[in-house]
Amino acid sequence: MDKTIRQQIYSDVKKWIYQAGGEQIRVQIDDKYQIDTKSSANDLVTEVDRETEKFFAEKIRDKYPSHRIVGEEGYGDKVDTLDGTIWIIDPIDGTMNFVHQKRNFAISIGIYHDGIGGEIGLIYNVMEDVLYTGIRGGEGAFRNNEKLPQLTEQVSIDTSIIALNSSMAFDNNRINEKKVQQLIMDIRGTRSYGSAALEFAYVAEGIVDAYVTMRLAPWDIAAGLILVNEVGGITVQANGQSVDLLGTNAILTCNKCIKEELLENYIELK
Ligand code: IPD
Ligand code: CA
Ligand code: CA
Ligand code: CA
Repeated sequence: MDKTIRQQIYSDVKKWIYQAGGEQIRVQIDDKYQIDTKSSANDLVTEVDRETEKFFAEKIRDKYPSHRIVGEEGYGDKVDTLDGTIWIIDPIDGTMNFVHQKRNFAISIGIYHDGIGGEIGLIYNVMEDVLYTGIRGGEGAFRNNEKLPQLTEQVSIDTSIIALNSSMAFDNNRINEKKVQQLIMDIRGTRSYGSAALEFAYVAEGIVDAYVTMRLAPWDIAAGLILVNEVGGITVQANGQSVDLLGTNAILTCNKCIKEELLENYIELK
């Protein structure tokens, strides 16, 4: 993608994310809204999720009609190749937190071009007004415009903090839970924030050293992948293979220092 176009898109998406998050979600956080369920009683969606995705879809279609959209709530296009420019959108990542806690949720947008890799990634922690951004081309990743340091510091398993989901630690059809239990004993601490996008952002920020989770959709990971890449971290499927951006992935994203040890000793898919 041409650098000038990338900068134009970056400035548009930043403006739209502040509009959606700040002017529409944050100031109306105490308003009543409709809550529905999707695949199960714990899989929540609200009219705010839908309205937010619709807002982005309309903006993108108006300004960039040739771009395609992949979105969680159905306002996107049917996309089965990575050709052209694709916006991958999670209007609210952490809907359960949004509903129950009114915090700890994010808007996540990743923009990709011709399948080559991520161009622009943004994760907006709406209630804290913290925007994480990453742009292709070695420019790095930023937290509220402050450049994040590269993840070069030596990290070892015994001093690391790792974000995990409880659902993966105990579902023995999918992961060797004994090895996960061992991991929990061997590291310094675990965290579970309930928003995949924020968990990626925290890996990029270096405040957690890895995030392991069993089942993420493209919109959960699209922006985070770019941020973690830009600070020199790595994201792979939990079986070590490269990520499939249009599929469902069990994910390990982490500081490179601990990737091999995590895959060899602790993360075994059954
Ligand atoms: C969910 C959150 C959660 C993760 C789930 C996702 P949603 O996204 O990221 O942390 O464990 O797998 O589906 O539905 O709140 O956008
Ligand atoms: Ca959802
Ligand atoms: Ca999500
Ligand atoms: Ca969502």
